Amino acid sequence: MIHPSGGWGYHLKAFCFAPFLWRNHRKNIAQVVSRFVRNNQLQGKVLVMVGASAGHELTCVDFSVFKKIIVFEPDGVAKILFRLRYGRWWPYVEWHRTAVVTGNESVFLGGDAVLWCNVLGQDSVSGKGFPLSAIGADPRPQCSFHDAVSGAESRGVMVEGRWASSATGAGFTRILLKDRRDGRREAISHWSGERNVTLVDHDTLNVFPDVTDARFWAWRLTPWSTHWVEAVTRPQE
Ligand SMILES: C[S@@+](CC[C@H](N)C(=O)[O-])C[C@H]1O[C@@H](n2cnc3c(N)ncnc32)[C@H](O)[C@@H]1O
Repeated sequence: MIHPSGGWGYHLKAFCFAPFLWRNHRKNIAQVVSRFVRNNQLQGKVLVMVGASAGHELTCVDFSVFKKIIVFEPDGVAKILFRLRYGRWWPYVEWHRTAVVTGNESVFLGGDAVLWCNVLGQDSVSGKGFPLSAIGADPRPQCSFHDAVSGAESRGVMVEGRWASSATGAGFTRILLKDRRDGRREAISHWSGERNVTLVDHDTLNVFPDVTDARFWAWRLTPWSTHWVEAVTRPQE
């Protein structure tokens, strides 16, 4: 249950901080998903979600547009919490406690489109293999939101003020960039000058490498850690 990108620690953070710090992050995800649905005509279709956890980030997403949702999420506690939170959608959910990893890509071949729910790029932290090559070859419309760069205060709580604009996401404008590399440079520049911050690059430029448009925004996970989130969609919009 202890996993760098999920498990008890993640659920605890979500319960403590999501109501205060995640509002914009949740709205941004819902916007990305609704564009994805609109542009790929996914109304009434079957959506595959990988790494849904308890859906802590997905509370603003309108699941009613899908006929069915197939979830791949190995965390058993997440399943219980997801069911409690999204009880009304539960009859439309098919839950697999299966991790999608290199070698078993075929397990997630059902469904009309795939939503990677902040799971790609977690790999570089957890050291497990993801089927990035299989994703590239998969013809289904796919959307992924994931951490591009994470910054954690290494000593104490990040001082309010420097992060004031990103505390709730307000004022920390969501940007649409032509080149994903620019987005990452921009992200890193936000931390420059912060001497006590440890940065992790999630190495996510290889997620749909052919995609040039991406949306980025800051997600303040906790008072002491902020993720620079990237959302990419294929086919491109
Ligand atoms: C950052 S959390 C995602 C949070 C989630 N999107 C939410 O709304 O709260 C990453 C999740 O990916 C799951 N995960 C990790 N490796 C996975 C894999 N290979 N296949 C499917 N899920 C995986 C973890 O169990 C964890 O719950």
